[in-house]
This record gives sequence, C-alpha cells and structure tokens, in this order.
Amino acid sequence: MAPNAPMSHGSADHPDGPPGWFADGVVYEIYPQSFADSNGDGIGDLRGVIDHLDHLAWLGVDVIWFNPCFASPFRDAGYDVEDYLAIAPRYGTNEDMMELVRAARERGMRVLLDLVAGHTSIEHPWFQASATDPGDDRYIWADRPGPGLVRSPGSRPGWYLRNFFDEQPALNFGYAHPDHREPWRQPADAPGPTANREALKEIIGFWLDKGVAGFRVDMAFSLVKDDDDLDATAALWREIRAWMRGAYPDAVLVPESDEAQTPGVGARGGFDADFALVIHREHSALFNNGGAGVLPWQGGAEPCYFDAHADPATGGRALVEFLRLWHARLDASGPHRLVVLPTSDHDFSRLACGGREGDELRAIFTFLLTWGSIPSIYYGDEIGMRYLPGLPDVEGSVWDPRFNRAGCRTPMQWDAEAPNAGFSSAEPERLYLPLDPRADRPAVAQQRADDASLLCFVRDLIALRRATPALRTTARTRVLAAGYPLVYLRGSDHLVVVNPRRDAVEVRVDGLDGRDASLLLGSGVVVAGSTVSAAGHAHAVLSLA
Ligand code: NOJ
Ligand code: CA
Repeated sequence: MAPNAPMSHGSADHPDGPPGWFADGVVYEIYPQSFADSNGDGIGDLRGVIDHLDHLAWLGVDVIWFNPCFASPFRDAGYDVEDYLAIAPRYGTNEDMMELVRAARERGMRVLLDLVAGHTSIEHPWFQASATDPGDDRYIWADRPGPGLVRSPGSRPGWYLRNFFDEQPALNFGYAHPDHREPWRQPADAPGPTANREALKEIIGFWLDKGVAGFRVDMAFSLVKDDDDLDATAALWREIRAWMRGAYPDAVLVPESDEAQTPGVGARGGFDADFALVIHREHSALFNNGGAGVLPWQGGAEPCYFDAHADPATGGRALVEFLRLWHARLDASGPHRLVVLPTSDHDFSRLACGGREGDELRAIFTFLLTWGSIPSIYYGDEIGMRYLPGLPDVEGSVWDPRFNRAGCRTPMQWDAEAPNAGFSSAEPERLYLPLDPRADRPAVAQQRADDASLLCFVRDLIALRRATPALRTTARTRVLAAGYPLVYLRGSDHLVVVNPRRDAVEVRVDGLDGRDASLLLGSGVVVAGSTVSAAGHAHAVLSLA
C-alpha cells in the first residue's frame, strides 16, 4: 500500500471482528510487582491495584493488561508458571483477582491476563512428572544434547527443550516436520500435544469464567517447533480461537508479535489483533531515524524508543521507513487490521529514557493516542517515569546476562512526598526493586494537581479520543505529509501534526484545501493555507472546518 493511501480497520467490514471495547480502547499494562504494594512486603499486589482503579478510570483506561500473576518461582517475572489456575500468593488470591475484575468493570474497564502458552516453569507439576517418567510427552525430551536442549534435572535420562530461559521448558505442541528417527519430533496431533492444546483451553476457560475479558499470549509464535512458515502454529491457534468464539464470543486473544518471528501469526491464527510488543523497528524508525540496537540487552548505545534526537542529515526518511513498516505490519495483522502499539513495555527501555521529557514526550503520546493503532500505555510512562540503565535484575538476567530489564520495571511513583513515593510502606531496602533514586522523580499526585503536567495532558488526549470517533483506532487515517513533521488526517476533519525532532520544521501539505484549522489540543503548530509549521517537538490535534 502506498504510504499515503488511507488505512481503514475492520470492525465495520468484519462483523466477527473484535469487540469495540478492545478495538477502540486504550490499554494500560500493569507489571504487577511494581504497581502498588498494599501490605508493605515490598512487592506490588492485586489489592494495591484495586486501590488505584479510580486513578486508571480518571485517566480514561479501557483495558488493563497484567503481566503473568500466576503461581511461579519467579525466575522470569512469572513468565515461568507453576500453576496456571492460581494467583501467585505474593499478589493475592483468586478471589482478589475476581474482586479486581468486578471493581474494574464497575468503572468501565476490562482485564486481560497474560497466557504463557509455550512453556511452564521447571517447578510445574507437569514438568516434575515429565522429568521422572520417560513415558510422559507433555514436554520435548531428546536423547542427545543439541541447541536449546538442557540436561534432565530428574531421574528421566535425556535433555529437555527450553523455550526461553533454561528454567522455562517448552511444552510439547509437536513438530511441523515429524521424524520417526528422532522420536521427540512428534506430530501436532500426538497425545502429548493434544493434551497441551486441551490444557490451554481449560486455562483460558477457567479465567474467562471468572470475568476476565481475554489474554495476551506470550510468544504465541513459539508453539509448534520447526514451523518456519508458522502454518501449524497458526492452525493450532485457529482451533483455539474457534472454540473461544463459540464459548466466549466477547473475549479477545492477542498474540505477542514481532515482525521477525511472527509474520502474520495474528492474522493466520485468527487473533483479534497483533500486539507489537517487540516494537523497536517501527518505533525507532519513527523517532530514531531507523537506528537499530535500541534494546538494552542487545547493547544499544542509547537504549531508547522514540529517539527524537534525529540526525538532520537523514531528512524525512525515517518517517517514510516508519510508514513502510507500519503498513507491512498492518497488512500482516489480519482481516481486522488492528495492531497494538505500546509506549514501551516490561522488556525494553521506557519512553522517558536518554533525558527525554516535556514536549518530546507529549509529541509521542499525541502520535500514539491518535494514530490508527490500539495504544497501550506502560504503567508510569504517563508521568514520564524514567528508565534506569544498568539497574541489576532480581529475575531473568540472573539466568541469562544478556537480558537486563530491571531499569524499566521500577516501582510506580504515586506521591513525591510519601515514603517510597507512595508505592509501599516497607523499609526502602526491602523493596523488591528499588525506586528511581532521583530527587525530582515524577509522581502521580503532584502531576494530577498540575494542569500543565504530562499526566493531565495524557488524560486530556484520551478524553478527546473518546469524545471524537474520528480519532479512535478504527477510524480512517490518511497521511498527508510523511516527513517532518508527520501530518495525518483522521476521519475527514481531524488533523494531527507531530514533530518528533527538536528543530522547527515547515511543510507544504496537499489536501488541506485551505480549510480553517482550529486547535483542540497541543502546542507549537500553525496551519496557514497549505503550509504547516511546527516548532521543535510540536504536537497538535486540530479540527478542520
Ligand atoms: C516475552 C515476555 O514479554 C518476556 O518478559 C519473557 O521473558 C519472555 N517472553 C519469556 O516468556
Ligand atoms: Ca505486597
């Protein structure tokens, strides 16, 4: 699709598309251990979230997505599940989750949980049984060492296949190319894989019955092995999706997706949208001149998304590259053409990294909340919480030093004047992860009291988006200028101008036809005839007469 061709989305065209609460919603990601600690043990918990639901409703959030909160030895922040049907004691109980879901619904919000489908913890009873019983095939056991294979920790001889860290053994969903000479390469319809598919349905049904609205699926692409074209993995998800559609028609299922590993698994697996969790390509192409290596654990010099310190020498090319990637991603996302674009997430750096603040952050939020994607706000980004490079991990990198993710997982800052910034009443040294130590760390209470704060700006943007159908995800988007500034039309009469750079820029825009533009929100933009002038980091939503 040409960069300036209009984009349209699916709900109207595809009546079986995702429900409007998701398709046009604003998602908010809560990393449970760092949001709010209600009992003073230094770790965030569900009651802490319940206590802060009014704040999320005030902000205008529609959907809360939780990272895994199930029983786990926490070697990878709960992405190593020990019991899918029990909330981790550190976070509370199943009853707390049900109360949270109810309290969120009363405030117009729905809850998505994280389905870790491809692997369990080595502590899961399924794995414990498999590591002692050579006849058990819920996991993949080879009789010789090889890539990704880890020596058996139990009495069973052999090596098990890991899915991510060694402590995360891959559940057996079979191989795309079974081979009887290597008997662990089973077909996808062998008993072990069949039992695991049924188990996924049980887990999904268990939580949907409790009022949960759907799941984000961790590493959705990783299930069937050696499935290069993802045909078998997509077929597996289509089966689960078809079952869900019958049993839970209003629930959503969204895969973790990244361009390299999941070309189109969202579409072909029958998912509701693509969750562009690994977002470095699109994001850095937009605000970082396509710079690669932004992931801290990939050794990025400047571990930043949306790096607006653009190199003037590359002119507007970065935005053109962003649009190319975006359209490819949208096309691969499926009939509903829905892609979730997060501000940042629990795996990479935060939006506010590399000294980014103020209007630069406002410009990025303006883009994310008015672009034709589903926005997902990572807790704390809405106040400009900072990324802390090099902060030692308590989980994850302990098992693989290439991953260092603590810097984007620090406790939420609720009140600058309260102990531990209002996150916890524990002694500071008992906090599971330390707070941003800086004296000027941003906080919710102070920003709520200040109309000129980033938080109030984000709230205003969300409110404008809610009040204006043309600004929502599923409305039409037409890019009018794919350079700096980025200029696009939403619907027929809303104009958005975003300048990711710190230098002022001006562009001639065809398609404005001399229409009068009046400012709804933002600053630094002047539209005169067909000329759009934008100050450094200018951002504006305008309505056209
Ligand atoms: C992706 C998750 O986002 C990440 O945090 C986790 O470590 C891996 N999947 C393994 O589950
Ligand atoms: Ca706690």
